[in-house]
Amino acid sequence: MAVKILYIGSRLGEVAEHKSQIEKQKLNIMDKVELKDETAILPNPCYVQCGDNLELLKSQPNESVNMIYCDILYGTGRNFDDYQDLKPIRSDIESHYLPRLIEMKRVLKQNGSIYLQMDTRINHWMRILMDDVFGYDNFQNELVWVYRTQGFSKTKWSEKHDVILFYSKSKEFIFNLEAVREKEIGESTQKRWHKEIAEHGMIPTKKNGKIYWNSPYSPPRDWININALPQAHSERNGYSTQKPKELISRFVLASTNKGDVVADYYLGSGTTAVVCKELNRNFIGCDINPKAIEITNARLEAVS
Ligand SMILES: C[S@@+](CC[C@H](N)C(=O)[O-])C[C@H]1O[C@@H](n2cnc3c(N)ncnc32)[C@H](O)[C@@H]1O
Repeated sequence: MAVKILYIGSRLGEVAEHKSQIEKQKLNIMDKVELKDETAILPNPCYVQCGDNLELLKSQPNESVNMIYCDILYGTGRNFDDYQDLKPIRSDIESHYLPRLIEMKRVLKQNGSIYLQMDTRINHWMRILMDDVFGYDNFQNELVWVYRTQGFSKTKWSEKHDVILFYSKSKEFIFNLEAVREKEIGESTQKRWHKEIAEHGMIPTKKNGKIYWNSPYSPPRDWININALPQAHSERNGYSTQKPKELISRFVLASTNKGDVVADYYLGSGTTAVVCKELNRNFIGCDINPKAIEITNARLEAVS
C-alpha cells in the first residue's frame, strides 16, 4: 500500500508529495497536493523527476531557486547512446531554449546565478539569447573548462574545451571567493613563504608599518583545468555525457551557501544532484530520459 506523506520543503518554499516510502526519491512537485497536518521538514531534500524540463519549470514558484546549473544540449545533432541531441540549426536552438530561459529567470532568486555549459557549436547563439533574457549587464563570465581527452584533429586545432556562460539575475549576487580560491601555489610563493604557509596558512604583507595576512591562493580564473573522467575512472557511471563532480562543485561552492536551492534541468546522470547532496545544498532537477533518473537515484542513494 502506498504511504502518503506530505512534506513542506522548508527552503524550497514548495510543496512536494512523497508518494510512497518505497519510491522515496521519485517526487513529483507537479502533482496537485492538498496541505495536511502531517507535514515535516526535509533537512536536505533532493527532488528529482522524469519529464520535460519546461513542465517542471512552469510548475515552480517565482524566485524559489538560488542557482541553476545546466549542462545543456550542445547542438551536435548526434544520437548519443542515452539521448538525441538537437541539430546545430539556429532556429531550432532558439525555439528550444528561449521559453526555458525565460522560465529559468523567473524561478531564480534576485541574488541568484545561472551557469549554462555547452561548447563552441552554439555558445554564440546562447550568449545572445542569454543577453536578451538575463540582460547584457548581468553577464558575468564566459568560463572555459579545459580538458584532455583522446582523439585529435589533423586538419584544424583540436577542440578540447567547453564553455560555461555565467549570468546573475541582478547586480547583487552571491560569490564566495574564499570557497573557490585556486588551491595551487606558484613555486616562487611556495619557496618564499613556506614557513608562514605551514604555520598560519597565510602570507604576510607589510603596509604602513602594519602586517596584513592574506591567502596564498589566487582568486579563481575564468578557465578551469580539471581532467575529464577517463573511461576507467571510479566516478564513471555509464552515462555518455557525464561531467566530473569536481567541475560542478566549483560553481555550487562559488554561488550558493549551505541550505540553498540548486536546480539542474538537464540532469543526465545526476552529477549536480550528487554534488548538492554532498555539499548540503537542496536540489531540484529533472531529465526527460528515464535512464538518467534511474542512475541519478542510484547515485543519490549511495551518498551517505
Ligand atoms: C549533456 S546531458 C547532461 C549530463 C550531466 N551533466 C551528467 O553529468 O551526467 C543533457 C541531458 O539533458 C536531457 N534532456 C534533453 N532534453 C530535455 C528536456 N526537454 N527536459 C529534460 N531533460 C532533457 C537529456 O536526456 C540528457 O540527459
